[in-house]
Order: sequence, then structure tokens, then C-alpha cells
Amino acid sequence: MLLNLNQNHLLVTGGAGFMGSAFIRYALKHAGFTGHISNLDLLTYAGNLANLKEVEGDPRYRFYKGDIRDRALLETIHDERPIDGIVHFAAETHVDRSITDPMPFLETNILGTCNLLEFVRTHPEIHFHHISTDEVYGALGPEGIFTEKTPYRPNSPYSASKASSDHFVRAYGVTYGMSTTLSHASNNYGPGQYPEKFIPLMIQNALGKKPLPVYGKGENVREWLFVEDHARAVWTILEEGKKGEVYNIGGGNEMKNIDLLRLILKVAEEMTEEKNLEELITFVIDRPGHDFRYAMDGTKMTTLGFTPQWSLEAGLRATIKELL
Ligand SMILES: NC(=O)c1ccc[n+]([C@@H]2O[C@H](COP(=O)([O-])OP(=O)(O)OC[C@H]3O[C@@H](n4cnc5c(N)ncnc54)[C@H](O)[C@@H]3O)[C@@H](O)[C@H]2O)c1
Repeated sequence: MLLNLNQNHLLVTGGAGFMGSAFIRYALKHAGFTGHISNLDLLTYAGNLANLKEVEGDPRYRFYKGDIRDRALLETIHDERPIDGIVHFAAETHVDRSITDPMPFLETNILGTCNLLEFVRTHPEIHFHHISTDEVYGALGPEGIFTEKTPYRPNSPYSASKASSDHFVRAYGVTYGMSTTLSHASNNYGPGQYPEKFIPLMIQNALGKKPLPVYGKGENVREWLFVEDHARAVWTILEEGKKGEVYNIGGGNEMKNIDLLRLILKVAEEMTEEKNLEELITFVIDRPGHDFRYAMDGTKMTTLGFTPQWSLEAGLRATIKELL
């Protein structure tokens, strides 16, 4: 056991974002949880406290607005209540933005992560869990799968910044003997995701009768994981994982973007009065360096007792419901 989750104080970074907020909601709903959660978030364009409405009055929860690069703030939080574990979600996350302007990705994803690691170096009793992505492994062809041993080949400034931060997490664990774990997740989707990402963008545009822009011919393949399943996977790692280990969290739902879009539109039509939504699909010039396919081998997570529970169709229904 890495942490005694029911008693410990967890610092969640980026907890107002899509995946961090799902993790906080999951933790506070978890049966018998008597620990505390502090949420440190800068509230960039992607942070939204409405994601945490249902927990904001919970005495086990506290929000700190601030930057993960602010060392003094980390010390203040630790002085107020000693931190036992950090679950690090905060990041710049949108690939297209990283292509237009990479520097904020280096600053938050690399320097921000290193600042957290430096803080933990002086408080070595703290466990550090780093949230990474499948994108650090690069792109697959039609065959193959990413395992925890796949070499890194990041193709975008976003994935390069995440890869860099992963290397620092590993290096701090090895060099200083710090307690670290790291997980790579496949594409998450679900309620509360900022509508620049594929699924909420397509749902919002379809419901607003706006064009549905698809890169290239929509042939790129992604693997989809419902965000609540991701939260449960991270919880499982914190409870059952081993210091220094890396875990791949797959969703098991691999699909071409165009097929996923058709499924979204079918479910949206079933849930509304809308018809012929496919007529809104428009193919646009492909993104530079667009990875063809990602797929994750989730075998190691099954050894901890985790398998995803949400089917893609059920997850899409929950996502569309929130946007109606
Ligand atoms: N979304 C996905 O499909 C996916 C898949 C795998 C891994 N990840 C990783 O999961 C993590 C969370 O992703 P998400 O989709 O929830 O992101 P998000 O963009 O929805 O949220 C990021 C959060 O981090 C906060 N933040 C940004 N810079 C900060 C800073 N300097 N200090 C403090 N807070 C800051 C933002 O305000 C926001 O609340 C990221 O590390 C991302 O790389 C995401």
C-alpha cells in the first residue's frame, strides 16, 4: 500500500480541470473516506470550479488558487496540514495550442512538475503520483500496442513536455529515493471536459447545428477511457501500486475518429429530436505531426484489480446529457 487513503491528506494539482475534478469527486464519494483533499489550481482557461460544485462545502475539501511553480504556496499548504501524497494532474493539455505556442507547455508541464519534485525532495515522506499520457509513446501503425516498456517518441510539443516531466519524475525517484508512481492514460472523455477537445466539441457543435470539423479523413485511431474509470484507476494505483512503478491505463475502446463521431451523432439523435446530424461533418486539413494511432495494453492495471467499467455508448450518453 502506497498511501492510507482514508486517513491521508492528498494534494491534487489541477483539480479544477476535467480529470482532476473527476478524481476529487470520486475520492470524496469513496465509501468511508475520512482523509482530506486540497486542490491547487491556477484556474487557467481550462480550470472550472463548477466541476466541483457538489463537493465545495465538504469539510474534507479545500481549494487553493495558485500556481504549481509557487514553492512558497506549497510550503504554506503543507504547514496548514501536512501533505501525505500529491496527485499531479495540472498541465497545459491541448495539442493544437502547443503547436501554436509551446512555451506555456514547457513552463507548466516541465518547470511546474520539477518545482513539485523539488518540494517533495525536501519532504521525502510525501508520495508523488504523476499523471501522464499515452502520447509520450508517439504513434502506432495499424498494429501494435503501447506497454509500460515502450520507448518514448513524442511527436508534439505537448507530448514532448509531458515526456520530459515523466523523465524528471523517474530521475528524482531513482536519484533521491523518493516515492513516486506514474500512470499513462489513453484519451479521457466525459462530463466537464473543455470543449476544445474532440468529443465535447463535436457534441456542442452538433447540438448547435454548427459544422463538425474532422482532421484529414477521420482515419486516426484513438482509445477512449471514461473519466470516472480513470479516477478509479488512479485511486487503485495509490492503494495497490508499488513505489517506482509505471502503469498504463487503457479504456479498451479503440475507434477511428470518424466512426466515433458517427456513434456520437447516433446517440445524440436518440437523445434529442435532431435528425441528419451527419450532414454537419466537414473534413479539414490535417494537424501537423498528427499521430495515427494510440492503443494501450492495460494488463498491468488488471493485476492491481482494475478494469474499465463504462462502455463507450454509456459514457457518451452521460457526456451528451450534461451538454443538453
Ligand atoms: N484529457 C486527456 O484525454 C488526457 C489523457 C491522458 C493524460 N492526460 C493528462 O491528465 C492531466 C489532466 O488533464 P485534463 O484533461 O484534466 O486537463 P485540463 O486542461 O482539463 O485541466 C488542467 C488543469 O490544470 C490547471 N493548471 C494549468 N496550469 C497550472 C499551473 N501552472 N498551476 C496550477 N494549475 C494549473 C488548469 O487550471 C486546469 O484546471 C494532464 O496532466 C494531462 O496531460 C490527459
